[in-house]
Amino acid sequence: MGMRICVLTGSPHLKGTSNTLAEEWLRGAQAAGHTVERCDCARLNLHPCLGCGHCGMDGSCVHRDDGDGVLETLLQADMVLFVTPIYYFGMNAQLKTMIDRFYARNAALAEKHMKAAVIATAWDDNETVMKAFAAHMEALFDYLQFERCGMLLARGAGTVEMMPQRYRQKAYDMGRRL
Ligand SMILES: Cc1cc2nc3c(=O)[nH]c(=O)nc-3n(C[C@H](O)[C@H](O)[C@H](O)COP(=O)(O)O)c2cc1C
Repeated sequence: MGMRICVLTGSPHLKGTSNTLAEEWLRGAQAAGHTVERCDCARLNLHPCLGCGHCGMDGSCVHRDDGDGVLETLLQADMVLFVTPIYYFGMNAQLKTMIDRFYARNAALAEKHMKAAVIATAWDDNETVMKAFAAHMEALFDYLQFERCGMLLARGAGTVEMMPQRYRQKAYDMGRRL
């Protein structure tokens, strides 16, 4: 049966490296019969969590912006794909802002045991560039009880021109094999 997949992208570059790989992944997922809803965290109206506790981790947020809508999409989905460029060894702020807003529906999200995957791109090509980010995502997946469906960590991928071609195929295959 086809899954409903919610894709959260963080890059401000519509045609940048991470969105390029996300599009390949989506092509694969759609070819496999899944449906996709994309939420562009770089363009949505999203305010950072205030830590005010109003939501009680199970309610609506004090912010009246696009965050609650993204959460509803997520809660109706079977899977989430996180897509981000690496900014200072982590996900970028645009994506992190949305992830912090998960707080409003934390328990409901964890109870779903959703499938989850990651695509990230970095300029540098060395062992350390993705290490902290990968550890962060592993911890997040454990905490929210997400089922791992792959992490594509594309190094040496600072621009679309310099990005090694093999990553596009890898992204497509990851989506296709879900
Ligand atoms: C604020 C900022 C911080 C960055 N930090 C890193 C970094 O720590 N390591 C790295 O390899 N590349 C870093 N980069 C480069 C981006 O990760 C890289 O260019 C990426 O491919 C951009 O993805 P996009 O085209 O999807 O936006 C940084 C770029 C910006 C703008």
